[in-house]
Order: sequence, then C-alpha cells, then structure tokens
Amino acid sequence: MTAINYSEKIPNNVNLSEDRTLQRALEHWQPNYLQWWKDMGPEGSQNFDVYLRTAVSVDPQGWAQFGHVKMPDYRWGIFMNQAQQDRKIHFGDNMGGDVWQDVPGEHRANLRRIIVTQGDTEPASVEQQRHLGLTAPSQYDLRNLFQVNVEEGRHLWAMVYLLHKYFGRDGREEAEALLERNSGNDDNPRILQAFNEKTPDWLSFFMFTYFTDRDGKFQLCALAESAFDPLARTTKFMLTEEAHHMFVGESGVGRVIQRTVDAMNQLKTDDVGKLRAAGVIDLPTLQRYINFHFSVTIDLFGADQSSNAATFYSSGLKGRYEESKRADDHILKGNTYKVLEVQNGQLVEKEVPMLNALNEVLRDDYITDSKGGVDRWNRIIDKAGIPFKLSVPHKAFHRNIGALAGVKVSTEGRVLSDSEWSAKVSEWLPSNEDRAYVASLMGRVVEPGKFANWIAPPVVGINRQPADFDYIRFN
Ligand SMILES: [Fe+2]
Ligand SMILES: [Fe+2]
Repeated sequence: MTAINYSEKIPNNVNLSEDRTLQRALEHWQPNYLQWWKDMGPEGSQNFDVYLRTAVSVDPQGWAQFGHVKMPDYRWGIFMNQAQQDRKIHFGDNMGGDVWQDVPGEHRANLRRIIVTQGDTEPASVEQQRHLGLTAPSQYDLRNLFQVNVEEGRHLWAMVYLLHKYFGRDGREEAEALLERNSGNDDNPRILQAFNEKTPDWLSFFMFTYFTDRDGKFQLCALAESAFDPLARTTKFMLTEEAHHMFVGESGVGRVIQRTVDAMNQLKTDDVGKLRAAGVIDLPTLQRYINFHFSVTIDLFGADQSSNAATFYSSGLKGRYEESKRADDHILKGNTYKVLEVQNGQLVEKEVPMLNALNEVLRDDYITDSKGGVDRWNRIIDKAGIPFKLSVPHKAFHRNIGALAGVKVSTEGRVLSDSEWSAKVSEWLPSNEDRAYVASLMGRVVEPGKFANWIAPPVVGINRQPADFDYIRFN
C-alpha cells in the first residue's frame, strides 16, 4: 500500500482506479493544473531537465529516486501515509472515538475551509517565486528552487484530492478556484496576505523557506493530528517534503552568512559600506530581513484569541503541535494560556481560556522552533570570531493581526509612540535602499560549480553529487 503506482495517468497510492468517477474528475482537473503551471510556474523553465527527487513510496526510504526531468513532466500525484489501524481521536470532545474516514456533516464547512486555506498557500508560493530562476546564484540553488516549486505543486494536488473525494460538487469548485486565485492579484488574490507579498530576491527566498515554510510545517503538524483520517495521513506525507524546504532556507541563509563573515575577516572590517562595495550582504541587513520575515510569518497563525480555533480543536479537526506528547487532558476546558496586550502603554500578559488561545499556542511553538536555526546561524558568526548576534524580534514587533495589530513595538518589546517608531523603523525593517542593494546583487550564475559572489557554496551536493554536477540541463 505504501508503494506508489506510476503506471496511471495520476500517480497515486490511494487505489484511484477503483473509483472511476473520482479518477475522471481528477483527470479533468489535471490539464488545468498543467496550464496553471505553464502560466504561473517557474518562468522560462519548461524545457530544462532538472535533477529532481521523486517519491517512489511514502516510507522514509522512498525519497531515494533522483533523475533529470522536465518540470511539466514531473509525476505529480496523490500520496498518503499508510493508515494506522484502529486509530482513535485523541483530543477534543470526541476523544476516544474512532477517527472519521468520511466528513461528518456538521464539520463539513469548517473542514472544507481548513483544506482550502492550506491548499491556497501551495500554488501561491510557486507564483511568488516564479521569477527567481532568472537570477539564481548557482545551478545547485536553481535546482533547489525548482524542487521546492514542484513539491508545492504536489501539495496542491494533495488538498485537491481531498476536495474532490470528500466534498462533492463544492469541492470540485474549490479545486478550480485554487487555480484561479493568483498571488498579488488585485481582483482575485490568494487567501492569506503573506502569500500575496512578493519574493523579490534570493535572500527573501531563503528567508521565506526558513520562516514561512516552517509555518507550513506547524499547520501541517496540527492537521496531522486531525480526527478526519484522510487529512491526517495526507499531511503526514506532506511533512516529509516540507523538511527539504526548510533545509533550503536554513542552509541558504547560513551560506550567505558564511560568505559575509569570510569577507569581514578578509577585509578586517564590519563597515557596511566597505562590505557592500565588496558585494556581500552585511549582517545588519540580514537581521532586518529576519525581522521582516519572522513578523509577517507569525501573523499567519491568526488572532491570539479565536473562537474558530476553539471549535476546530474541540471538534477534533485540528490538534496542537505534537498533541500526543502533551501531558494534559487534551480537552482543555478549564485551562488558561497567556496572551499579550497593551495596557497603559505597556505590553502585559493576560490569562485567557486556552481553547480560545490555540492560535497563540501554535505560534509560540513555532517561535521556539524557529529560534533553533537562528542559533545555528550564530554559530557560523561565532566560529569566524565576529562579535555579532542575530536574533528573532519580539513577538509583538510589526504585527498585523489580533490584539497586537498595528501597535508600535520595538524589536526588544518596548511600546513606542508613532514618532519613535518612525525614527527607528529603518534600523529594524529592510529599507528601500537595503532591498535595492540586495536586488543589485542578483545576477545569473549557471556554470556548473560556480556560485554568485554573495553566497558560499554548500558543504555537500544534493544526493552527494560533486560540486560541478550539472543539476540543470538548459537545452
Ligand atoms: Fe507546501
Ligand atoms: Fe513548503
């Protein structure tokens, strides 16, 4: 059951051929998807042979297959983790009951909304990144971008399968709409604001894959706990793909830092002007990019108090991160949690019912996780003997949703007046000048084994390929 059937038009491990109607409906959606890929996917890349990995099974070993493929020929399909026998609902009001193999009528609208919202982010990020291939810093990086892109396309397939199979006509309509909304489109934008922002340069791409794909990880982890078993099994497999995206981000930023600290030591300077003249990205600019991407991403978890979050949890639709490892009663009726708000010009903690604060719980778990990589980046700086520390900004900094929306708070967590904020904001968030400088570095390096000046080579190639491997055949 874990092996994937590649002999069918739509590769799958869900016995798709046993349900002719469903198969036909998905085969009808397939050309629309391919048209979307051609119109909105990686620009000018249709003819390239790209060294991609393809899942041959959903086992951990199932990623061993690598080969050169044209992206429009990538075998997008439907892969689910194996069913766990006698799986029980392990949180919320239905705890102890059998998990659902179908959608209970009373949860239909909420589940559809959850699946559509998740599904919408997947093609959105492909759209946001579609121009990046034109300025790749190396073949290795170009290949990683394309790998991320095809897998986000695959994640769209994962959600579309659930919509088609379990939501009838509404589901089919939603699946079409997922190809019609476009990132940044004024008339028909993507659902979540962060997915309508531009990803204008490769530093933004690495920050996005580190911070924003990690939001994806936490949302998927919460859905992998779901009482709706097909959703749980689907998202579990998606998580194995997500891990690579975050690796691209963490190692990408790490290599930028490596190059910068090497230049700092070579030139014996921390002067931003001199470092920019040398064509590397100074550490204060990196810090501002971190501040931006971190704050925009933590907004994605939603309002700090939300009755929807409570409903999703109590009805078993969406659990907490690592739900089963937690020691409480998994019902949370009398529990409380601390959220932040501003009182008399100060940030104060307020205890609220935990069920209503589950967005905040997930956001806090995310914050803890995202600090790990920042610590590893600091080790690169440390090792170079440079006294500089990167950090994530305070949770209340530059927020746009919930009780902290629009409140002016410093990266350290001090509430500011509008004029204090205006005086300092260019120290905290990328200025137009920073962005223009980073943009000026973006060129196109495509010779095998060569890297742009602003980024160090990776320690090891993809699938242990040598440094000068031809990851992309441009044809
Ligand atoms: Fe994804
Ligand atoms: Fe991702």
